[in-house]
Amino acid sequence: SWTIASIVDEQVARIREQVGDGRAICGLSGGVDSAVAAALVQRAIGDRLTCVFVDHGLLRAGERGQVERDFVAATGVNLVTVDAADRFLAALDGVTEPEQKRKIIGREFIRVFEQAERDLKAQGDYRFLVQGTLYPDVVESGGGTGAANIKSHHNVGGLPEDLAFELVEPLRELFKDEVRRVGLELGLPETIVHRQPFPGPGLGIRIIGAVTSARLEILRAADSIAREELTAAGLDRDIWQCPVVLLADVHSVGVQGDFRTYGHPVVLRPVSSEDAMTADWTRLPYDVLERISTRITNEVRDVNRVVLDVTSKPPGTIEWE
Ligand code: XMP
Repeated sequence: SWTIASIVDEQVARIREQVGDGRAICGLSGGVDSAVAAALVQRAIGDRLTCVFVDHGLLRAGERGQVERDFVAATGVNLVTVDAADRFLAALDGVTEPEQKRKIIGREFIRVFEQAERDLKAQGDYRFLVQGTLYPDVVESGGGTGAANIKSHHNVGGLPEDLAFELVEPLRELFKDEVRRVGLELGLPETIVHRQPFPGPGLGIRIIGAVTSARLEILRAADSIAREELTAAGLDRDIWQCPVVLLADVHSVGVQGDFRTYGHPVVLRPVSSEDAMTADWTRLPYDVLERISTRITNEVRDVNRVVLDVTSKPPGTIEWE
């Protein structure tokens, strides 16, 4: 619509005015906000924007490709991917306590991102840092009450500003639905524009127990089956998200083929929510649950049980850690 088109025009003009002939860096998380912010800045200053995507090895199947292939194809943006999976795995070695995991992942993320910033600064006049801050974030950061303090949140928007950057925040006046419409106006694919929320610490906080590459592989496979079946059933817009959680330190006995197995349960955590502050567990159709369960136990080695989380928030948070 013309209103969205005019928001785009106005922001593009403002970005051009702010950045002048300087260069900008934007961290991509795979999420909507950073993608739309980057696409707007790309529209304004072209290849004087460089995006940085940190692959911390805790992503779901296909997520890196979505950024490297789909986002780049839609925008033509300059992208640097930093492959940091080994570093994150080493830092997380043996760690089981959720807050400790979150802090380690957040800390490593900042270190990796700052190194990428230094590398770019050595190559050109990168004075601007793009962030996908939305209007509700602006309002909320005045307070810092309630759920925000229950878990130490990590996302690309929360980086420290200790390096000499001036912030570019083209979404500061927008609500989420407007951000999505701006994204579509800029030609971003639906898969990015309507992506469900996914936590910055990624699958690291969906493995209950220590994070290892073998466990990540199991969880990635189970998660991708659940997402495939939910999408095929047309349920993506009805649910807020459906974390799949691997109870890696729990074993359960099963029988698969003619053999006794001793594997792990995974938990499905489908939730409906408006803003993630409160949530209800989603009454998914039994046939969809059945397909997910059958496929996961057939296709994912080491998983012999699928259980359903029927807890609302409160008392349960959406993520298990
Ligand atoms: P909880 O588990 O607190 O989650 O009920 C509420 C919403 O926030 C997401 N979440 C995060 N998002 N960084 C993020 O960007 C984080 O550290 C983080 N932790 C939780 C969660 O997926 C849910 O949508």
